[in-house]
Amino acid sequence: MKNNTNQRSTWNSQIGFLLAAIGSAIGLGNIWRFSYLTFEYGGGAFLIPYFTALFVAGIPLMILEYGVGHREQGASPLSLARIHTNTEWIGWWMPMAAMFGIMLYYAVIIGYCVIYFLLSLNLSWGTDTQDFFFTSLLQISDSPLNLGGLRLPITTATLFVWVICWVICYQEINHGIELACKIFIPLLFVLTLILVVWGFTLPGAMQGIKTYLTPDFEILKQFDVWTAAFGQIFFTLSLGFGIMITYASYLPRKTNIFGNALITSITNCLFSFVAGFAVFSVIGFMAHKAGLPISKVIKEGPQLAFVVYPEAINNLPFMRSTFGMIFFFVLIIAGISSGISLIEAFTCAFKDKFGWDRKKVVSMICIIGFAGSVIFTTRAGLMLLDITDHFVTNYGLIFGGIVECVIIGWILKSHKLRSHINTFKTSEYFKIGFWWDICIRFVTPAALTFILLKALTKELQAPYGDYPLDAVILFGVDWIIILGIVSVSLTFYPWKPELLKRKHIPEDEHLLT
Ligand code: ALA
Repeated sequence: MKNNTNQRSTWNSQIGFLLAAIGSAIGLGNIWRFSYLTFEYGGGAFLIPYFTALFVAGIPLMILEYGVGHREQGASPLSLARIHTNTEWIGWWMPMAAMFGIMLYYAVIIGYCVIYFLLSLNLSWGTDTQDFFFTSLLQISDSPLNLGGLRLPITTATLFVWVICWVICYQEINHGIELACKIFIPLLFVLTLILVVWGFTLPGAMQGIKTYLTPDFEILKQFDVWTAAFGQIFFTLSLGFGIMITYASYLPRKTNIFGNALITSITNCLFSFVAGFAVFSVIGFMAHKAGLPISKVIKEGPQLAFVVYPEAINNLPFMRSTFGMIFFFVLIIAGISSGISLIEAFTCAFKDKFGWDRKKVVSMICIIGFAGSVIFTTRAGLMLLDITDHFVTNYGLIFGGIVECVIIGWILKSHKLRSHINTFKTSEYFKIGFWWDICIRFVTPAALTFILLKALTKELQAPYGDYPLDAVILFGVDWIIILGIVSVSLTFYPWKPELLKRKHIPEDEHLLT
């Protein structure tokens, strides 16, 4: 729906907005990334830094991003430029990191899921799933610097993913993203629940769940666990990407921002927690079948979903194909509902500034996006995506979060945004108090800065993941620097002066039901 007052699309309904925001949050991060991080960082113990990060940074920043988008009615560059012209660059940095830091490889992982969905039809990954993934499918090269040519099945599947995203994003948000999420998200919940219940019925499931929930507190002394948990909260809640600012900019005035922020954050993290049962019960089943301890059957890192899960599916007593198809279909729809939000944050930013037609912007960035994804479909792709993911998530997003806190807390002054949010609240229960100002001005930026600095110190000691230093610099550090330079460059193009003025919209305009 477009309204005459500000010519921006709006969501058709409150639930449509919430499903789109939850769809953005729930993605590959909740199943693929959360599960391997949880295992890597001490099982149940990881939940402690994870939920700490949710309350210290996740929820306060979700309120901030919704508040900024709602108050300023623009994607992140316009919103931040309206707060202060010198802060526009960070408004570009966020969707740049989302689109060209994350979406490029994110589409490739969804592409893997598409391939595995098809392979599930007759379990054609064979009995040695590790060999299949690394040797037959990826034909992985010996170094991230040795690209070794394209893996055409992966390139084709990635193209398919970009086309689906293009079809959805091409439409106005209420016809494209909102409609897609209204279908995807309920389906995602139902299918995940089926996987969880199914997982519980497998012999050995309890052993896996015990590993999932039994904390190894020793690991909490390692600082990486805390960095990974904060990085994961940003990734999983889609914070620091400019997405939530953009989505909230399409909201009508009278909106329960605090309530929506709580619902989005808590639903997302509960989803991860529940989906974890589906993953770990199956791992327990596999260990039981092989007569080995869990630590011997599980694989660390991004391959958990593509090596361990297919192997477990091979061993299921019945309906293997169905189970495999459901699992990979869940990953596909979770991935696409997030992928479209990554594209939307950049589309809306570009459209706000350059005034181009939405269809033209979406078509252009999907073509550029696919071209950029191609490098991750080479034989070195898995290593490259691991490096890019590590740097963009743990540094790029967290950095964006710190700067947002400084801008809102100290330049705009957090009480102004709080008062805006409270003016448009729909009930007294959802009034945010002074605690939020304390978080945004002190607690959240201090915690994030500490995490960032500690992580940087560690980074200087040894190259990430034992990859060659050149590769880490090229695909991690240089990539971040290039994205930063482009973000700053985009601010030199002047805004139309009338755009920088916030438009007044009557409080009761187009209330959502
Ligand atoms: N929030 C999205 C995810 O978790 C990006 O995958």
